[in-house]
Amino acid sequence: MYICMCNPFTDKDLDGALKNDSVKKKTSAVYKACSGGVKPCCGTCICEIRERIDTHNTEAPVIAAE
Ligand code: FES
Repeated sequence: MYICMCNPFTDKDLDGALKNDSVKKKTSAVYKACSGGVKPCCGTCICEIRERIDTHNTEAPVIAAE
C-alpha cells in the first residue's frame, strides 16, 4: 500500500525505515529515509507516518526466551 503519493513509497518502505536502527524515529528522518532524501510536498501522508512511528515506539521489545 502506498503511504506517500508525492514521492512514492509504500508501507513496506516505512516498516523498513522503522526497523533500521540508523534512522531516528522522528517524522522528518523517517520520511527522508523512505523517500530517498527529499522533503514532503502536500503533507497528506504525515499523519499516517506519525501514527506508525508512535505505534513502533510504544511496542514492547521482543525478548527471546531460552
Ligand atoms: S502524499 Fe506524501 S507528501 Fe504528499
